Amino acid sequence: MTDEGENVKIITIVGARPQFVKAAVVSRAIEQYNQTAVAGERIVEVLVHTGQHYDANMSEVFFRQMQIPQPRYHLGIGGGNHGAMTGRMLESLENLMLEEKPDMVLVYGDTNSTLAGALAAAKLHIPVAHVEAGLRSFNMRMPEEINRILTDRVSSWLFCPTDTAVKNLEREGVGAWTGVRVHNVGDVMYDAALFYRERAVAGSLVSSLLEQYQDGFYLATVHRQENTDDPQCLRDIMAALEEIAIRMPVILPLHPRTRKHLATIGLELKHITYIEPVGYLDMIILLDHCRAVFTDSGGVQKEAYFFRKPCITLRDETEWVELVEQGFNCLAGADQGKILEAEQSFIPQRKDFTGSLYGTGIAGNNIINILQKNP
Ligand code: UD1
Ligand code: UDP
Repeated sequence: MTDEGENVKIITIVGARPQFVKAAVVSRAIEQYNQTAVAGERIVEVLVHTGQHYDANMSEVFFRQMQIPQPRYHLGIGGGNHGAMTGRMLESLENLMLEEKPDMVLVYGDTNSTLAGALAAAKLHIPVAHVEAGLRSFNMRMPEEINRILTDRVSSWLFCPTDTAVKNLEREGVGAWTGVRVHNVGDVMYDAALFYRERAVAGSLVSSLLEQYQDGFYLATVHRQENTDDPQCLRDIMAALEEIAIRMPVILPLHPRTRKHLATIGLELKHITYIEPVGYLDMIILLDHCRAVFTDSGGVQKEAYFFRKPCITLRDETEWVELVEQGFNCLAGADQGKILEAEQSFIPQRKDFTGSLYGTGIAGNNIINILQKNP
């Protein structure tokens, strides 16, 4: 029997930017665990990249900078409508799982790659572990809400980042789902922020921006389908950020989806400092130095909190409700007036960032300890 055959074999599915950040943490926890585990009790991780994100600055840079192991499989499935993308992934992942015969499949977050991985595994009766389980926006028009609800329902381990996530699952009756284990392990993104902030060095572009904007700047990201694909929402958000950028520089690393839609509607940005998407290390340096954050990203809302920055969320609701409830985050939607008002009134309010809403920075280890004891 091969060494690999005796150990626990996990297939990890990633495909989109936030998943690289999360997988970096858990892959490192696996590596650490294996250093002291004896033969036969190790974890063999087979990393699969669906190809959902494919530009070098949306994918390769994360593997390189965060020292994520190279994927053993790259499926090259990116672009297209939701159904087509998810369907193609499902077919490829099923074949791959039949061949690899893993003991379990690990998925992250709420993307099409997450759902395809979870569904392919569940239909083959391979147990699924879902990292970032239990989050809900209660907005079924979001593709992510559909993905996360379905993924949770077919998973065996639900690794929640917060008590709110656990409560959401309880409200959906998780206690009656056979063989399902729910754990609040903390947020792997907090682990990532703590680990990489010590190691982050700015690239040349971000270094020169920091130099240029020594007196302060805001950081913004926009990529949600409900904002980018609706011309009015996109115009309103950009109009607000353009107006703000006249008095305070706004750095906007532009997601390819957003760049595409700005071009389609012919909207030119005159005052915003828009740049290509940056790697994670540059991103955390920008988070560390900015005055405040404007974003519709799930991950960036939390990172604003990790770096003790007020966050104005360009959505009507958020899965990270504790940030709003405790006054760290303000929901402004895609409403130009509300965004401008929040910049004036919410950002200057004093906030006490001394608590810890997302665990203690050991979520990755918690996950691996549970999976190893309970394969
Ligand atoms: C996806 C996730 C979203 C997550 C986001 C993180 C789903 C349903 N959505 O949204 O939850 O917040 O990733 O960034 O899975 N594109 C490129 N190059 C790339 C990647 C994308 O040009 O490397 C362009 C393509 O035109 C593509 C579009 O962006 O069609 C959207 O990409 P897609 O992966 O479908 O969705 P995201 O908006 O990135
Ligand atoms: N991020 C990055 N460079 C960027 C924009 C975002 O490294 O130009 C990081 C960000 O810091 C966070 C992750 O990507 O760790 C979040 O991904 P994204 O906003 O694309 O997705 P979401 O969290 O909304 O699903």
